[in-house]
Amino acid sequence: MIDRPQSFRRILAVHLPLQRIDAALALALLLAVPACAQQASPADGNEFVNTLMPLPATVVSKPGNLRIDNSLSYALSGDSSPRLRQGALRLLDRLQMRTGAELAKEPAPQGREATLTIEAPASSAEASPALGEDESYILDVDEHHASLRAHAEVGALRGMETLLQLVQPSGGGFILPAVHIEDAPRFPWRGLMLDPGRHFLPPPVIYRTLDGMAAVKLNVLHWHLTEDQGFRIESRVFPKLQQQGSGGLYYTQQQVRDIVAYAAARGIRVVPEFDMPGHSTSWLVGYPELGSAPGPYSVEHEFGVHDAALNPVEDSTYRFLDTFFGEMAQLFPDEYVHIGGDESNGKQWLANPRIKAFMDAHGMKTTPELQAYFNTRVQKILARYHKRMVGWDEVLSSTLSPDVVIQNWHGSEFLVNGAKQGHRGLFSGPYYLDYTYTASQLFLADPVPADAALTPEQAKLILGGEACQWGEHISPQTIDSRIWPRAAAVAERFWSPAADRDTEDMYRRLQAESLRLDEEGTTHISGPERGLRQLAGTEQDRALTLFAAVLQPVNFGARYQQQHTSQLTALDRLVDSVRPDPPLRHEFELLVDGALRGNSADIERLESLFRSWVDAAPELDRLAANSPLLNEVSSRRSDWPKLGSMGIEALSYLRSGNAPPAGWQDAQTALLREAAEPRPGELVDFVVLGPLEKLVAAANRSKTQ
Ligand code: ACM
Repeated sequence: MIDRPQSFRRILAVHLPLQRIDAALALALLLAVPACAQQASPADGNEFVNTLMPLPATVVSKPGNLRIDNSLSYALSGDSSPRLRQGALRLLDRLQMRTGAELAKEPAPQGREATLTIEAPASSAEASPALGEDESYILDVDEHHASLRAHAEVGALRGMETLLQLVQPSGGGFILPAVHIEDAPRFPWRGLMLDPGRHFLPPPVIYRTLDGMAAVKLNVLHWHLTEDQGFRIESRVFPKLQQQGSGGLYYTQQQVRDIVAYAAARGIRVVPEFDMPGHSTSWLVGYPELGSAPGPYSVEHEFGVHDAALNPVEDSTYRFLDTFFGEMAQLFPDEYVHIGGDESNGKQWLANPRIKAFMDAHGMKTTPELQAYFNTRVQKILARYHKRMVGWDEVLSSTLSPDVVIQNWHGSEFLVNGAKQGHRGLFSGPYYLDYTYTASQLFLADPVPADAALTPEQAKLILGGEACQWGEHISPQTIDSRIWPRAAAVAERFWSPAADRDTEDMYRRLQAESLRLDEEGTTHISGPERGLRQLAGTEQDRALTLFAAVLQPVNFGARYQQQHTSQLTALDRLVDSVRPDPPLRHEFELLVDGALRGNSADIERLESLFRSWVDAAPELDRLAANSPLLNEVSSRRSDWPKLGSMGIEALSYLRSGNAPPAGWQDAQTALLREAAEPRPGELVDFVVLGPLEKLVAAANRSKTQ
C-alpha cells in the first residue's frame, strides 16, 4: 500500500524509503535506445507493437496493416454533428503531423468507399458531455480499411484517440496495424483536478491539459476555482469576489465558456469546485459580511488550514449563495457542482456568539454537526438549479442526502463508509500528484480497494476517481511535469480492466505515451528543460541535464516544511525543474537488474552512465559557481560523482569476481545513507539509491564466491 494523505495534506511529510528510488532525460543519449525500439518486438509476424494507453478492454491483433499515405480518405456517418466533424478534423491534423502524409480534409464524397469510416449517432449540437454516457467503441483495421463504430459520439472520440496511438513506423512509412478492438471504460468518472486557487493557471495551461486528458481518455476536469489564496472566476452579480479576491488573476466568464466548450468538444465534463465553508478567505475580502468573524480580511498568501469560514447561521449567507450558484449554473452545464467542504476547522464558528447560540439552540455539540447543517442547506440550493453536489470526505454525515457524491482524499475508509451509507464515491487519496508517487504506485492503486470489503452493490457506487494536482508548488511552467506522464498511468487505472496490473508493460507504454503527449503540446519535457537552461545560464547544460535526471522533487510536505513555501515563494529552484518519477528511475532499476543477471549490454550502459556522472561533475560545479540557485544544491552535487564512482567500483568487483577490500561495503553504505539524508534547502532527492544499494551488496558478495 502506498502512503496516503492523512489529516492535513499540506503539512504532511511522507518520507520515502531508501529503495523508493527513481529518475533521466538526456539519458536517452546514454541509454541510447529510441522509444519504439524498446517496445516489445512483434511476436507473430504481425507488426503490432502495443503502446496503447490506456489499454483497451480487448485487443485482437491480426495479420497485416493499413498504410497511411496521401491516399487516405475518410467518411463520417451521414448525420454527423459539428462535434464529430471537428473531432475527425483534429484526428486528421494529428495523423498528418505524426506521419508526414498529406491528408484530404474533406470527407470522401458519398458513395465512394473511404479508407477510414467513423460511425456514431449524432448528438444534438448543444449536448454537453454527461456522466454515464456510452463511451464504448469498436475499431477494426485491416489492410484496406479502418472502421470506427460507436453508440454515441463520445465513444467515437475515444476511439479516435486509440487510432492515433496505433500509428507506428514501418517499412519506411507509417501504418496502422490490423486489429480488432472492443473497448469501454471500467469507470464512468475519470477526472483530473486542477487548483488555480494557489497559483493561477492561465487558459493556455488549461487548454493543453484538456488535450492531454483527451489523449488518455480522462473525462472530467475538476476545476478548484476558489481558495483562501484566490477567487479565480468572474462573478458579475458579486464582482468584488474577483476584484478583491484574486489579485487580478481570474478567468473571465467568456474564458470559462470557451474552456467548457473546448472540453465538451473533447468529451470532457467540467465540474467546478467552490470550496466552502472553509478555504474561503478570498470570498471574504470583498464580502466580509459572509464571514463568521467581523474581518476585515485580506487574501491569504500562506498555505495550510485557515480559520476563515462562511457564516452558516445567517440567512443572508444562503441568499448570497443562491444568487451566486444561479449565476454559476449558467456557466457550467454539468450536472455536478463540487462544494469542497474540506478542512474547515470551526474555530471562527465557536468564537462567534451568534453561531455558538445557534449551535446550542439546535443541540449541536460539534462544529461538524453545524457543517452538516450548512451542507444540507447548500445542497437544497444546488438542487434548485438542477445540480447535484460533490464534496470531499468531510461532508459525509448521517444527515447528508444520499444523492451527494463523496470524493475521498483521506484513507479509503471514508470511501467505504460513504458507500455503506449509499453515497456514490470518487477515489483520490492514492492519486495525489503532488506526492511523489511513482507511476507504478499510482497505477496499482485501485478505485475499489481490495481490502474495502464492499458488497458488489456498494462497489458499484464507486464512480471512479480523480488524479489531483494541488497548486501550492506549481506554476504554469512546472505544472505539466507534475501531471504528465504520471496521470496517464492513473487514466489507465480508471479506464482499463482491473486485471491490467503489469507495471513493466505500463512503463514501456508510458514512455511512448509521454512522447505523444509532448507532441500534443503538454510541456512536461520542455518545461523542465527550459528551467534547467535558465538555472545553468547557458544552452549547453549537458552536465546539469545529467544531474537532474537522477533527481526528483522532495515530497509535498517536505518542501512545505523545508522551504516554508507560501504563495510568494519563487518556484524557480532546481526542485522545480526535476520531474517526479523521472524516466531514469525505472530505467536504472531495470539496468541494475540486468547487470546483476550478467547482461553485458546492461553492464556497459550502466558503466557509461556512472562515468558520465563522474565526468560531468566538474562541469556542474563550474555552472554552479555562476548560478546561485544551483550552488544551493551543494551536498547532492558533491554526492553525485561519488555515487558514480561507487557504481563503477561495484561493477568492476562484479566483473572480476574479486573481493572488495574490508570496509568497502560499509563505506558505500555510509555514503548511500548520506545521499539519502533530507537536505533542507536543496529540495531534491536522488532516485537511484535503492538499485545502487543492491549493486553494492552484490559486489560485496562476490568475495565469498
Ligand atoms: C484536500 O486535500 N484538502 C481535499
